[in-house]
Amino acid sequence: MSTPKHIAIILDGNGRWAKSKGMPRNYGHTVGAKNVENICKAADELGVKYLTLYAFSTENWNRPESEVKALMKLLESYLKNCIKTADKNNMRVRVIGEIGRLSVDFQNKIKKLEEASAVNTGLNLTIAINYGSRDEMVRAVKKMMTDHDNGKLDIDKVDNDVFSSYLDTKELPDPDLMIRTSGEQRLSNYLLWQLAYAEFYFTDVPWPAFDKDELKKAIDAYNKRDRRFGALKEEEQDV
Ligand code: IPE
Ligand code: IPE
Ligand code: MG
Repeated sequence: MSTPKHIAIILDGNGRWAKSKGMPRNYGHTVGAKNVENICKAADELGVKYLTLYAFSTENWNRPESEVKALMKLLESYLKNCIKTADKNNMRVRVIGEIGRLSVDFQNKIKKLEEASAVNTGLNLTIAINYGSRDEMVRAVKKMMTDHDNGKLDIDKVDNDVFSSYLDTKELPDPDLMIRTSGEQRLSNYLLWQLAYAEFYFTDVPWPAFDKDELKKAIDAYNKRDRRFGALKEEEQDV
């Protein structure tokens, strides 16, 4: 069995899971946030090197104010505690997304966590906060134009690798497997560039109930896929 090096997950279904239990949506977010640590541990045990989680999209600001507030509070406290967990589990944590829209205090916590965990050599956990793929690409293009104006970027040198180096994910390999929980089958503005050749796995299991066994099922499904990358394997060719 080969373990995908990089798994990207769209953590979805917190609200519906809570409603199905007669609880408010924010309860789902609390349980969902707790599940992050379980899945990091499981991914590490299964040999995954990079795990990238979609926690808050650029579109999620359109939710009711009380839900946005609750989500921000949960994320902030998760990242604060994460310094200890990262240390204990030798985990390197990064945040992608436009963090300039978050409170200054929150931004400082992110920087502190990224710096403190930079020496860790285990699982690379990346959390996408105020992340939207279109926003990320527009920001990349703007940086490229500025560099060009300052004589630092030659148009003739721009290729896929150069473009990738301007994205928030510049330090990460492209994901091999993308998992979305809770039944929806869309990308919701997640890693549009980076997922160009990833395998997609959709499960009806909502995020708060997604456990190590479910992660194993996703990896098993990944192993049954015939990955081609546009070419043909030798045995598939006519001559
Ligand atoms: C995922 O659960 C968490 C975030 C998007 C922040 P949802 O809040 O989207 O839950 P559903 O999809 O409405 O059930
Ligand atoms: C995608 O889930 C964003 C995150 C998981 C953070 P949503 O629940 O916001 O996506 P839509 O609205 O169903 O497309
Ligand atoms: Mg959702």
